[in-house]
Amino acid sequence: MPDPVSRSGPSVRQPVPHDSAAGHVSGQAIYVDDMREPAGTLHIAPGYARDAVRGRILSVDLSAVRAAPGVVRVLTGEDIRGTNDCSPSIGDDPVLAIDEILFHGQVVFAVLARTRDEARRASILAKIEVEARDPIISVDDALARGGDTVLPDYEFRRGQPEASLETSQRTVSGNMHIGGQEHFYLEGQIALAVPGDAGDITVHSSTQHPSEVQHTVAKVLGLSEAKVTIEVRRMGGAFGGKESQANQWAALAALGTQVTGRPCKIRLDRDDDMIMTGKRHDFRVDYTVGFEPDGTIQAVDMAFASRCGYSADLSLGINDRTMFHADSAYFYPDALITSRRMRTDTCSNTAFRGFGGPQGMIAAERMIDSIAISLGADPLDIRKANFYADGRDVTHYGMPVEETGTLSGIVSELERTSDYRARRETIRRFNSENHILKKGLSLTPVKFGIAFTLIHLNQAGALVHLYQDGSVHLNHGGTEMGQGLFTKVAQVVADELGVTLDRVSITATHTGKVPNTGPTAASSGSDLNAMAARRAAEVIRHRLASFASDKHGVPIDAVEFADNTVICGGKVIPLATLAHQAHVARIQLSSTGFYATPKITWDREKAQGRPFLYFAYGAACSEVTLDTMTGEMRVDRVDILHDVGKSINPAIDIGQIEGGFVQGMGWLTTEELVWDDKGKLRTHAPSTYKIPTASDVPEDFRVDLWRSLGNPEPTIYRSKAVGEPPLMLANSVFGAITDAIASIKPGVVPPLDAPATPEAILAAIRATKTAEPA
Ligand code: MTE
Ligand code: MOS
Repeated sequence: MPDPVSRSGPSVRQPVPHDSAAGHVSGQAIYVDDMREPAGTLHIAPGYARDAVRGRILSVDLSAVRAAPGVVRVLTGEDIRGTNDCSPSIGDDPVLAIDEILFHGQVVFAVLARTRDEARRASILAKIEVEARDPIISVDDALARGGDTVLPDYEFRRGQPEASLETSQRTVSGNMHIGGQEHFYLEGQIALAVPGDAGDITVHSSTQHPSEVQHTVAKVLGLSEAKVTIEVRRMGGAFGGKESQANQWAALAALGTQVTGRPCKIRLDRDDDMIMTGKRHDFRVDYTVGFEPDGTIQAVDMAFASRCGYSADLSLGINDRTMFHADSAYFYPDALITSRRMRTDTCSNTAFRGFGGPQGMIAAERMIDSIAISLGADPLDIRKANFYADGRDVTHYGMPVEETGTLSGIVSELERTSDYRARRETIRRFNSENHILKKGLSLTPVKFGIAFTLIHLNQAGALVHLYQDGSVHLNHGGTEMGQGLFTKVAQVVADELGVTLDRVSITATHTGKVPNTGPTAASSGSDLNAMAARRAAEVIRHRLASFASDKHGVPIDAVEFADNTVICGGKVIPLATLAHQAHVARIQLSSTGFYATPKITWDREKAQGRPFLYFAYGAACSEVTLDTMTGEMRVDRVDILHDVGKSINPAIDIGQIEGGFVQGMGWLTTEELVWDDKGKLRTHAPSTYKIPTASDVPEDFRVDLWRSLGNPEPTIYRSKAVGEPPLMLANSVFGAITDAIASIKPGVVPPLDAPATPEAILAAIRATKTAEPA
């Protein structure tokens, strides 16, 4: 096989490996913690009130901390010259708590020491007295105790849901708890701040949102934004957990540098990381669905309440996305969807792959399963009966579903290739013959809206330089977290300039090169940045083509760029030669590029518009076996068919699908967050918090890309976003577990909560056995 990066011909659509694949596995890819520390670097450890949960701070005694070996300085809120806030939204996230502790683990001070070990040892020596208050921990607590919220309630309403539910021939109601999720990025939160000239500061931060870290550091330090530069080469995973929550650590490192004049580095210990940073929101949803005797939905009433934690963070967009995706892929003629964003005395929950969408979708799938079980029908038939279709193709927030054929095509092909109907029969037989082991099967859809629902975030910039040897320097506002964004953008730029991929040098995201960017999130990294980078490269190519056309007397359209050469009226000129000649002729070989997503609109007041440019689709069919004596569960087989439009890089896309699915499976089956009634997170290390491992990947795992004709929207190379949507393919695992439990007693909807841990499965089995059929 030819070397995939120096091979001739176009790079786009080739399964080229991740640009850092070799570096990742050999340990040579440089993360912030691998960077050579400048001489004199101080190490920071955060300190908190180790016994307090919530309440007014009565006294802080840091004398033992200051006296500890190696300690150079202790920072408190008093050291902040600017604003003591690192919130991405409404200004309610203190960098260092001053008057009040809002949750167990809130940072009160920061120790600067010669070594990290000395800083950590000193950080536990503080004596902090806090007036104890009874904390509000769970959503149910918050609802029961009067329901304080971090943001106003919000609702979507279509038609006459109340009246329609009254007149529906059948209804089912229920509720469900949907668990949160710890990001468990392999690289924890980290920042290294380095002092520059005249009070300038550069921060190497593991963040998905360098521009916001820049603004936060400037705001906290009281500097202008121009004096702060953020650089990010790569993150060791982020999954939404570094969209807003890298701010605090970068601010602390920069504050240390401002106060001491020395480089300062903070790398959170894993336990601190889990205790101090926000997670996926957990939810309670109460639903009633009215339907026809054939299972067609007439009306829904879905009431969502989520645990936001002590502050707003990104909870507005996240809970909105839950509401946008409360339809999964189903048409609701009449709908009432409400959302309460509960304030709790816990860490501030944040973005996590799917950004609230998964919670809305799993609730919709529960409703569908409930309808099917109450009718004694196959859940797949109920799903198909409710898919968006011609004439039933506008969402509950007024956006047209333009590609109804894509999902139905995917689902019918997967139904066939997974052998769904025959396996349904085999499983029925298996379950009738086995009393202890029960099998379940489920085929669920994914329809995920692509764009930020905060419209101004849908823009990106890039900076491309061509040098005189024909090599290319590529920079854009997107960040690399393992998802392969940098590789995809490099493929696009290589093709635009007609160079092989090895000629494109991928460089770290840098607020001084491309400013005012949005976060790399909402799966839109390649949609936005590849487009911006292509435009930058296009400008350079156009200048070269016009120069070559003049010089060689050929029409500009006859100048072609391929394989590091320029083909110009029969002549093949090395690109390096032409680049050099153009430079001598004083033609600029550098350009910026900019892209803003077209078409999208969203009127939040009216709850109407087109918040997404398009939907990404997919479907998964999962089979599980349960042991009804122990609650243990095994995923036997998974078939996935997923729509990435026309793929820019099928190897990377398949990697995203596999990884997203397994991460979703973890969310729904093994990853359980437990806070005790004193508000302490008990699951703050891998010893008590179980993410999926390699051995949890389904043994029979068949992943295919949908043979798409391309995104109907003119996205980059007609591709579709792939970062988040595959996580929700794991809804099929939850559906299969529900199906297996439901086989125990026909007509009873198993009251299964997520995650479906062995305990939750056993509880649902017990409740199913004693319940009356609906
Ligand atoms: N893949 C890896 N390997 N690591 C990550 O942290 N984050 C996910 C997804 N895939 C993530 C990942 C999330 S939450 C998002 S929004 C997208 O990648 C962001 O990148 P993209 O927009 O370039 O797809
Ligand atoms: Mo992803 S949750 O949008 O960072």
